[in-house]
Amino acid sequence: MSAFLQEIEGLYAQAMEELAAAQTTASSEAWYAKYLSRKGELTAQLRGLGQLPADEKPAAGKRINEIKNGLSNALQARQATIAQAEMEETLSAEGIDVTLPGRLQQVGKLHPTTVAMNQIIDIFTQMGFEVFDSPEVETDADNFELLNFPPGHPAREMQDSFYTATPDVILRTHTSPGQLHAMRKYAPDPLRVILPGKCYRNEDVTARSEMMFYQVEGLAVGRNITFSDLKGVLFNYANQMYGEGRQIRFRKSYFPFTEPSVEVDVDCILCGGEGCRVCKYSGWLEILGAGMVHPVVLRNGGYDPAVYSGFAFGMGIERQAMLKYSIDDIRYFYDNDARFLARVG
Ligand code: PHE
Repeated sequence: MSAFLQEIEGLYAQAMEELAAAQTTASSEAWYAKYLSRKGELTAQLRGLGQLPADEKPAAGKRINEIKNGLSNALQARQATIAQAEMEETLSAEGIDVTLPGRLQQVGKLHPTTVAMNQIIDIFTQMGFEVFDSPEVETDADNFELLNFPPGHPAREMQDSFYTATPDVILRTHTSPGQLHAMRKYAPDPLRVILPGKCYRNEDVTARSEMMFYQVEGLAVGRNITFSDLKGVLFNYANQMYGEGRQIRFRKSYFPFTEPSVEVDVDCILCGGEGCRVCKYSGWLEILGAGMVHPVVLRNGGYDPAVYSGFAFGMGIERQAMLKYSIDDIRYFYDNDARFLARVG
């Protein structure tokens, strides 16, 4: 064997040995640079081919090509082995244990106000009331004046309003203006509607009052609607909402848009009327305001009060939820504390 070929065989053996020792992608790349790249040792040897005597050239050229192919194939095989080993190492380092239990996913729930609202809507729709949508932004006329609050009437102060940039346009302080919208739509036909929705009062936020809260209004107008109808409907409501066997009590009250007006209590759902801290030892819990629709309001809605009569009631939805689920602070409803939100429903 010529000295030239001997040298090349030596280089080949050395390269194969080094390749077998390469443990990482990086070292296999360094190996490629050292032997096979344009600046590599094998390429350098190829250049020496030109100096060989003519009769040695073909055999030497052939051998160099074989060696080059051999090294390329060996590199490919080695790199595949290294890649496999590296992947296994990464996987075991990341430590995926497929036998571990999955993480519990938090599932969303309906908001407690929505839960209570849906219950209230269900109870009244079963009694034949239709849900009627009415706007949250109202004129002063519909929120107050046409509901028989004269300008400067002290009852306005009980419902301090949020004003808008437009004069006489306010955020509704109660759902009662919806009574007028419903009557205008139905008059002179009889109607039976409930109006759920948001209301706003410019008040200090306390355990008992929020600036934004929900109410449900109820309204029935027809030719023979009496106070007994109101009593029956509210008695049925109290029994479905707070449990069979509930008692209700009517106390005389005042609202400009109803006459007579009442506030309605249910016997304390905690102590059953015995007297406890929740009912302040009275045995009763106030749930809503109600009354017979005032003749002025009937007329403003398009009904002749000599022919038609009606009843109306209005309740705070959060208040119903607070009584039913023993929640002692209305601020929880809009604090967005997930522990509270998960409690009801
Ligand atoms: N609108 C009254 C309030 O917000 C409640 C009410 C409605 C009273 C209908 C009587 C009749 O306090």
